[in-house]
Amino acid sequence: MTAIKVFSGTAHPVLAESICHHLGVPLGRSHVVRFSNENIKVRIDENVRGADVFVVQPSCPPVSDGLLELLIFIDALKYASAERITAVIPYFPYVRSDKKDEPRISIAARLCADLLQTAGAHRVLTLDLHAPQAQGFFRMPCDQLSAVPLLCQHLQRQDLRDTVVVAADVGEAKDAGRFAKRLGLPLALVDKRRIDDRERAKAVTLVGEVAGRRCLIVDDEIATGGTLFEAAELLRQHGATEVRAAIVHPVLSGEAVPRLERSSVTQLLVTDSIPIPESKRSPRIEVLSVAAFLAAAIDRIHEGQSVSALLE
Ligand code: R5P
Repeated sequence: MTAIKVFSGTAHPVLAESICHHLGVPLGRSHVVRFSNENIKVRIDENVRGADVFVVQPSCPPVSDGLLELLIFIDALKYASAERITAVIPYFPYVRSDKKDEPRISIAARLCADLLQTAGAHRVLTLDLHAPQAQGFFRMPCDQLSAVPLLCQHLQRQDLRDTVVVAADVGEAKDAGRFAKRLGLPLALVDKRRIDDRERAKAVTLVGEVAGRRCLIVDDEIATGGTLFEAAELLRQHGATEVRAAIVHPVLSGEAVPRLERSSVTQLLVTDSIPIPESKRSPRIEVLSVAAFLAAAIDRIHEGQSVSALLE
């Protein structure tokens, strides 16, 4: 295999550019056309024959278009004789649809994994899947990075006295445990229930001691923010003096940002796994870039070196 080439779909070109900057390679030339009938055409505008190709495309609105564009991108690269194609998907599409927890529903995240393989991807590089075991959906190599070490490194530079790490829900308990261990802090847990498909969350019980302490809520993603704001309210009711949050994927759907600004959450630390449009910026949101981290993983994949060593 000769050159390493990085291409970007239309989802997050800023992240792709930044990854290229860290790798010291130019962004691959391509263009995407959307026709009046909503069909998508992807054209690769340079030679990729025999190349080790990485396509960066996290899932963000419009999600279905972005997914199809990625599949068409991979298909175009395959027919252009790329030697190996890695889909770099920092936020994986349909990642919360990872189990059959109701009768007669689809496991759409697994379906997305199948589609990538059908399109011609040889590998996937992703970040903090909603449930880490979803890695098993892929019948090709899938490197799952975690932004937890990166977020912790940043948090360690802040004042963490009297702080308790709080898992936003029981599903987050393991990751929250990793935060707590790295930061040397105690852990508490919120028992959250979902009421229905209207994305409403209810924080029911708190396990752990937060009275008179500062809380750091951790989660894999913030969508409507219901989970975070419910948890924050519960913590305040139990005597927390301050609530902050560290969340990997800033989906920030619907009214999440105005709600954040009205909430008791003073700081929300996220990554740039998904682009945050200007309309969703807030002084309470701090963004850490995962570009250097993804670039290092891409370099290691290309060189055949250990990727897990990056997480240590
Ligand atoms: C779900 O279990 C996840 O870990 C997040 O808590 C959830 O996706 C956040 O969604 P929302 O912000 O809409 O409550």
